[in-house]
Amino acid sequence: MSKLNKNLPDDPSTTGHSWNGIEEFNNPLPRWWLWTFYACILFALGYTVAMPAWPLLNGATPGLLHKSTRADLAADLERFDAMNAPVEARLVAADLGAIASDPELANYTQNAGAAVFQTWCAQCHGAGAGGQQGLGYPNLLDSDWLWGGRIGDIYTTVTHGIRNADDPEARFSQMPAFGTDGILEEVQIDQVVQFVRQISGQEADPALASEGATVFAENCTACHGDAGKGDPSQGAPNLTDAVWLYGGDVATLTQTVREARAGVMPNWNARLSEAEIRAVASYVHGLGGGQ
Ligand code: HEC
Ligand code: HEC
Repeated sequence: MSKLNKNLPDDPSTTGHSWNGIEEFNNPLPRWWLWTFYACILFALGYTVAMPAWPLLNGATPGLLHKSTRADLAADLERFDAMNAPVEARLVAADLGAIASDPELANYTQNAGAAVFQTWCAQCHGAGAGGQQGLGYPNLLDSDWLWGGRIGDIYTTVTHGIRNADDPEARFSQMPAFGTDGILEEVQIDQVVQFVRQISGQEADPALASEGATVFAENCTACHGDAGKGDPSQGAPNLTDAVWLYGGDVATLTQTVREARAGVMPNWNARLSEAEIRAVASYVHGLGGGQ
């Protein structure tokens, strides 16, 4: 065998294998490493026997320990439900008006109500409950209420929803489409829009607005009130403030009067428990605008 390099004195011996003069050192793995490696293999095999592991056609081997994080979760949920059951029973039995003054119920509805709100209501009303101005999703933080801001009003609104076809007790009202249904002439619509601009404190054409006052008195006061301050029994918004569901600019107002609006909210009694509805209604009532 030809030697290109001389082995150094402390080189380990070779295995005797040689390829084109390249020799293989006989350099075994350290014992501690090898035994740890074997121990790992044993542990891994044992683990797959004890825990759910090997994939089968429908699922996997359950493992001798029958461990299931899904079952753990179910057990946890059951435990929390059992813990909450007494306070939920009290909440369902309580007088709506008494919830806020009962410390235990107030605390529970704040927390549970916030959780329900983030899950079911935030998509439309916004995570902070500030609504989405212009899209018809009302702000629930202010004291401007379409359907009333007392706890009982909010509870009814949430339970049955608004203008939905699923609950016969849903809140309902219908603003006429003054343009599309031919109730008002275009010029009358322009006039009443200027009048609405005026009573909401915005820039308006005085001549058109004064004609608009008559159109308003004849067509709008039945729902929006003589002074345009709205009527919660009909879900008719106050038109004199700066809070708009759809918008207070001329184009949006014209569209509203011409085609009308009809915001829809689902009835939550179909999806939430009585305790959840009471919790979220109390939560909304407590956000600042509750009456
Ligand atoms: C799919 C969208 C949507 C979701 C989800 C939704 N809402 Fe609404 N909500 C609306 C709309 C739209 C209105 C206004 C309807 C109208 O124009 O009268 C409204 C109105 C309300 C009102 C009446 C406000 C007022 O001024 O009188 C309350 C209270 C309310 N929602 C609470 C809730 C709560 C609580 C939830 C969650 C359980 C929820 N909403 C989920 C769309 C939604
Ligand atoms: C039959 C009752 C009714 C009559 C009559 C009526 N409205 Fe309405 N109006 C409503 C209701 C209810 C809403 C809220 C619709 C919604 O929540 O989606 C509304 C909404 C509006 C809005 C939207 C406000 C906003 O915040 O964006 C404007 C503007 C408005 N009405 C103007 C008028 C004018 C002007 C007239 C008369 C020409 C009129 N309404 C007549 C019931 C009525």
